[in-house]
Amino acid sequence: MKGKILVTGGAGYIGSHTVVELQNAGYSVVIIDDLSNSTADSIDGIERITGIRPVFQKLDCNDLEGLRKLFTAHPDIKGIIHFAASKAVGESVQKPLLYYRNNLNSLINLLDLMPQFGVKNIVFSSSCTVYGEPDVNPIDETAPVKPAESPYGNTKQINEEIIKDFVRSGADIKSIILRYFNPIGAHPSTEIGELPNGVPQNLVPYITQTAIGVREQMSVFGDDYNTPDGSCIRDFINVVDLAKAHVIAIDRMLENKSEEKVEIFNLGTGRGVSVLELINVFEKVSGVKLNYKIVGRREGDIEKIWAEPKHANIVLGWTAKENIENTMDSAWKWQLKLREKGIM
Ligand code: NAD
Ligand code: WQD
Repeated sequence: MKGKILVTGGAGYIGSHTVVELQNAGYSVVIIDDLSNSTADSIDGIERITGIRPVFQKLDCNDLEGLRKLFTAHPDIKGIIHFAASKAVGESVQKPLLYYRNNLNSLINLLDLMPQFGVKNIVFSSSCTVYGEPDVNPIDETAPVKPAESPYGNTKQINEEIIKDFVRSGADIKSIILRYFNPIGAHPSTEIGELPNGVPQNLVPYITQTAIGVREQMSVFGDDYNTPDGSCIRDFINVVDLAKAHVIAIDRMLENKSEEKVEIFNLGTGRGVSVLELINVFEKVSGVKLNYKIVGRREGDIEKIWAEPKHANIVLGWTAKENIENTMDSAWKWQLKLREKGIM
């Protein structure tokens, strides 16, 4: 065993895929999750894939005393991967305090306890949302952070600053901040995947739910952008590729390879794909004709953004490997599995 890692939000979409990769790499994992946006089914899925059942405790990261008990019960935790957060951009505009409370307090509680329990390493889930509408694409980590478009986006920026300030204050911790672009797809086993609560806000779950008939039609928000086909462009990153980067980040910190106490990496493919291109890929791999219509722009949408992932490629030795066809195929197979299980 390589050591024990605490994964907050480990029952969720990216967290569950990361736990699989951590266990495959020989780490033992303790998951905490309040199940506010997931179910414990993902824990079963992780066990079916890896043959190992991670330790799971239902716990809210806002519960400082609960966290204290957890660290006391697991004095050998070597690092934390902090996924737990509320993540719906639209909801964050409606309920800003919920987002500020959950996303800021959760991190503050963990940072507070780390030195007390001798935990020195934390990986933080940030987002390309910190870049706003980029002045140039691909965008690298030296680009300025733009004023946030939503309370959710703001929590990511503030959390990055909280980590930097805490380290600057002399706290004996290291952090790797990972800025994800657009994670999509599911584990090829179809044991785990994305399970949106209610009407999906994100593109790929909307595509697959429409294709399977849960939604009648989907809207493409705008075809009048300054892009080759007029639809928005994103950097869609396979969730398993993304998960693997977390294992590398943890290895790097535990092996003391980090050059700085806080390091920031973009996690993307380096390739921009438009909304309409993605729909075409989906139709090709699934054989399903998607019922969609072009509607007006969605407020607050970024026109185009894709990553310059060279920093992660060179320093972490991580590269996104999966192609977009296989990734969309995995998303579709996951949707079919949800149907088979009667979940959706
Ligand atoms: P998710 O909602 O599937 O996973 C988050 C998990 O955290 C859920 O299981 C939820 O129940 C749990 N959680 C929320 N608040 C909690 C709390 N206070 N205590 C304990 N558990 C709590 O989301 P995801 O897509 O897997 O995202 C993981 C992280 O990555 C989040 O921090 C998110 O902001 C960030 N991120 C996601 C995307 C994306 O598009 N999915 C992009 C960039 C960054
Ligand atoms: C992608 C594209 C939509 C749904 C969000 C968050 C961001 C980050 C990633 C966490 C856009 C279009 C979508 C639909 C559509 N998350 N679309 N019809 O906007 O890149 O970013 O997720 O940090 O913070 O804001 O992702 O999947 O919502 O949209 O046409 O029904 O698909 O307009 O161009 P986005 P998305």
